[in-house]
Parts: sequence; structure tokens; C-alpha cells
Amino acid sequence: MCGIVGYVGHRDCTDVLINGLSKLEYRGYDSAGIAVFNHNQKIHVAKSKGRLQNLIDRMNQDGKPTGCAGIGHTRWATHGEPSDINSHPHSGGRVTIVHNGIIENYKEIKDYLADKGVTFSSDTDTEVAAKLLDYNYNGSPIETITETIRDLEGSYALGIIFADHPNVVYAVRKESPLIVGVGENESFIASDVPAVLDYTKDYYLLEHEEIAVLTESGVQIYDSFGRKIQKELKTADWDVEAIGKGGYEHFMLKEIHEQPTAIRNTIMPRIKDGLPNLEECGITLDTLRNFRQIFIVACGTAMHAGMVGKYVIEKIARVPVIVDIASEFRYRNPIVGEGDLVIIISQSGETADSKAAMHLAKKMGAKTLAIVNAMGSSIAREADMLIYTHAGPEIAVASTKAYMVQIAVMYLFAFEMALAVGKIDEDECRRLVAMLEETPEMIERLLEKKEMTQYIASSLITADSLLYIGRGLDYALSMEGSLKLKEISYIHSESYAAGELKHGTISLIHDGMPVIAVATQKELFDKTVSNIQEVKSRGAKVILICRDSYEPETNTADLKFGLPEFDDLLMPMIAVVPLQLIAYYTSVHKGNDVDKPRNLAKSVTVE
Ligand code: M6R
Repeated sequence: MCGIVGYVGHRDCTDVLINGLSKLEYRGYDSAGIAVFNHNQKIHVAKSKGRLQNLIDRMNQDGKPTGCAGIGHTRWATHGEPSDINSHPHSGGRVTIVHNGIIENYKEIKDYLADKGVTFSSDTDTEVAAKLLDYNYNGSPIETITETIRDLEGSYALGIIFADHPNVVYAVRKESPLIVGVGENESFIASDVPAVLDYTKDYYLLEHEEIAVLTESGVQIYDSFGRKIQKELKTADWDVEAIGKGGYEHFMLKEIHEQPTAIRNTIMPRIKDGLPNLEECGITLDTLRNFRQIFIVACGTAMHAGMVGKYVIEKIARVPVIVDIASEFRYRNPIVGEGDLVIIISQSGETADSKAAMHLAKKMGAKTLAIVNAMGSSIAREADMLIYTHAGPEIAVASTKAYMVQIAVMYLFAFEMALAVGKIDEDECRRLVAMLEETPEMIERLLEKKEMTQYIASSLITADSLLYIGRGLDYALSMEGSLKLKEISYIHSESYAAGELKHGTISLIHDGMPVIAVATQKELFDKTVSNIQEVKSRGAKVILICRDSYEPETNTADLKFGLPEFDDLLMPMIAVVPLQLIAYYTSVHKGNDVDKPRNLAKSVTVE
């Protein structure tokens, strides 16, 4: 989604903005632009469709703005196609802005302003906000901003400059995230902490409708009534290396390799005396005893982590779990309320649909538990209970290590829940926890045998379409394997419950069509093998992910990735690794932009 950076200080503003925007590239974008107060105190705007490099090339050609204050933006198109004209910043006369989010009532405002003779040149909701600010402008930026945000519906983070207030940057947000970085004689605004980490680790989290004013003498923050307020300065615990590639060709590969550490960082502080202990997250055995059912609500990969959670919780704790796609949950009038627990899983903690689902759950009287990676994000702050995953910054759009720690937390939670409701005793719980603790080492060993996944990937690059199949936990895993492949390789793929194929989908199988069969569950193995044979005998090229000990007959698989012996229940923790690597290498072989796949955004902050 869109990224915002703003700067006031002693450095070359354009360099800081471009550097900051490059750190936000992972969010996904299709155009970029900046607006800088030049040394003659006039605003110089440069923008371009496409990658940040296009903007840099354009500035090299047309002249680079030089000054010490300005705003920058990477746009992920919502209103209007990606184009130079729709790129941000947008100007409304005396006011120039960059915007992340969606102004839902932009049409009404546009009509209102058009009636007053205001004209528009782009298709964007952002230009409407810029023109409204200009229309309301009375010489006092704070008053104008407080008045204007009363008229704006939807979500926004805005970076604003006023032509007659040179070298001052204003910012305000509602729903969409924005931080204010504070350095030595310099200050920043940014959609996310990585954009400022080269300069400072200290930042303020801007709350709803708070306004930040960045000047040469520092940062002032105001509430929505224009009253000055004091805020707690936070310090990021990420360092610059954590957001670099560390010698890997892509962030995605680096993040796949970081999974063992991410698991250790996430689970070890939550294990005491060999048992799960989630007390610091506000969860005790007593809390868990009182829930009659659990909803897990999330989007994309996070929802797939919820699917693993469902199988595990239901299997060992025997508590009913409903997994919902957040965008469906919020509009399907769910039967949820007091006595229910709603778990929201999110890497970014800012996903608009997940956030709205959480608000709905709270309104309906359910308790909410957030499982979130990004510290201080909206979902993390607003949930009743919170378990942070400690994956560190995830930059690649395709989520890997965040998924891994989400499922690790699902396991810990399920073990604690099963103990709380008396379905397992402490000895069994200790046995399960000990197995979970073994997974980082097992993953480290798996990562040493990447060659087979490279070979499998090379066999997929000419495919137009493929299927992932599995049963039970393997089906949950297939969903993630399939999403990973399609989002970065652009090959159409679907995941299917293996037993369901014969009810229609099997008609798609044709000679040479790849089918990736995940068969790690001993209990269901023979059943899955029968389904594999059904597709194999119709010409499918079967790639089998199963235990190393299984030697497939010729009528079962063409290629096999072997996994070590492990308990069925915990198999997803290790079996997902070859699925991630197959997706990664397929994308690499196809020459795609692995970390920034087309059309996708890292953090989906609009509906
Ligand atoms: O930040 P979130 O975990 O809430 O994001 C949810 C999805 O948008 C995200 O998992 C998406 O599906 C990823 N691109 C998958 O790799």
C-alpha cells in the first residue's frame, strides 16, 4: 500500500525522501513522487509512474529539487490508474499533500467543491482532499487541518505542506498508520519505522486525528481540537541490518532463513518450566476455560495460519474454531458475542479488513486476542489481549517468517487451551512443547537441502496452472503453498482438499499438469495416496511432499521432497519450508520481481 515519508532537517531533503521511500518499497506501489521546498522556498514537485528509479531518472533529466523540507510518496493505485497525473503529491493551490488510505466520501466533497468552481485534474480522492484543505485554508495550518478532517470520512495518513509556511511539514492520520521520527536537529514522518532507521530509532506513534508539526526546531503534536499534547517517545528495537538483505539475493530468501530464529524469539519467552505461559499477554488458564467457541479472523497468509490453528486447537483442545476471512466476517453478520474469543492474526497489524473485523467482534461483546508482528500497530493496540510474534521486520511482500511464527503461536495457544480445558495433562503438554522447541533445528537442517526445491521449481516454470492437494493439516498447508506460488510466480494455482477433487475439479487434470500433493499426516496418508493415484492416472505430474521414509511407487509421484520423521501434529512447521522454497525458486527462475510482486501491497490498509 502507499508509503509516506516527510522530512525537515539539515540533510538534502530529496536524498532522505528517496532513501526513505526505497525502504517502503516492500509495501507495494506503482508510482512515486516528492514535493520539496527548494532553497528559494518554492515548492518543487517531481513525480512519475512506475518504480522509484523512474522518478530518479526523471529528476536527473529535469533537475533535482534541493532543499531541507518536503514530503514523498509511493502510490498503490485505488482511485484512478497508475499514471503520472494520478501520482502523489497532489496540489490544491496553496496546499500540497501525500496520502495513504481512502477518502470514502470524496465524491460528495468533489461535487461540493465543483459547485464552488474548483476544478480537478486527476481521478484521485487525494486531490479532492488537497483541494478541500486549500478551500478551507485560513492562514492557520492547524485550524485548517482540524476543520478539514471533520469533513473527511474513511482512512487517511496525510503529509501536508503549505506554500506560505516554507520548511514546515504537517501530518495527520486516521486509521492509516504514521510515525514521527525524531533525530538530532531533524525530524521525519513515515508510514513505517524502516523508512527512518538510517537516521533515528526514536519515534512517536501518531494516534487517530493527532496532528504533527515538523519544523527546524523540532516536533510539536496537537490533538484534533488543535491543543498541544505531550507524547511518549518510543525506541525501535530493529536495527538497520535487520532491514537489509544480509547477503541474500532477495528479502524473501533471507526471511525464509530467519525462520528458526524467529520461532525461538517468539516461543522461548512464552515457555516456563516446559509449559506454555502466556500471562504477560493477558492469557491465563482461567481466561481460557471460559470461552465457548473461538473465531480466527484474518486475511491471506495470516488466515492460512488460522487454518492450521483450527485443526490443532480442535484436535487437542476439542474447542470449536471457526476460521473467517476478515472481509467476509465483517459483512456476514456473524453469530458472535459474549463468551466467544475472536483471534485476529496479522503481520502488519494494520490490515483494514482485519481491523474492522476486530472492531465488530468487540462491539458484539466478544473478547479479542491479537497475534501481531508489528509493534505498536493499530490491531496490537486495540485488542483485549495481545501476543506479539517476534519475526522482526518482514520486507518481502510474500509472507514467510511471519506465517511461521503465527503458526508457532497457534501451537502454544492450542497447548495451553488443551491444558486449561483438561484435554491434556501437564506431562503431555510438556511433550508437545518440547517438540515445538525442536522445530527451529529441524528447519535449519531442511534449509541445507534446497537443491530439490530448486529442481522442482524448474519443472514448474512452463505450467499455466497447477493444484495443491492435501487432507487435514496438509490441506491447511496446501492453501499457503498455493498462495505463495501464485503471488510471486504468477502461475495460476488452487489448493484443494484431496478428497473433494473427484466432485468436480478433477476434470481440470490433463496430461502433464503439475499437482503438488502434501501428504505428511500418517493417519490420512493412504487416503491421500489414493487421491494422488486418481490424478496421476489422468496424466498429472505429481510432486509429493511427504516423509523421507516413504518410497513412492511409479504410479504415485514423479518427484518427491522428503521430510524428516516428526509428529503429525507439528508437521506443518517444517513442511511449509519446501513449499515456500518451491514458490521462491519458481519466481526466481521466471525472472520475476520476487520481493515486490506485481499488483500486491505488503500492508493492505484499504478495504
Ligand atoms: O499484515 P497481515 O498479516 O494482516 O496481511 C494479511 C495478508 O494481506 C498477507 O498475509 C498477504 O496474503 C501476503 N501477501 C501473503 O504472502
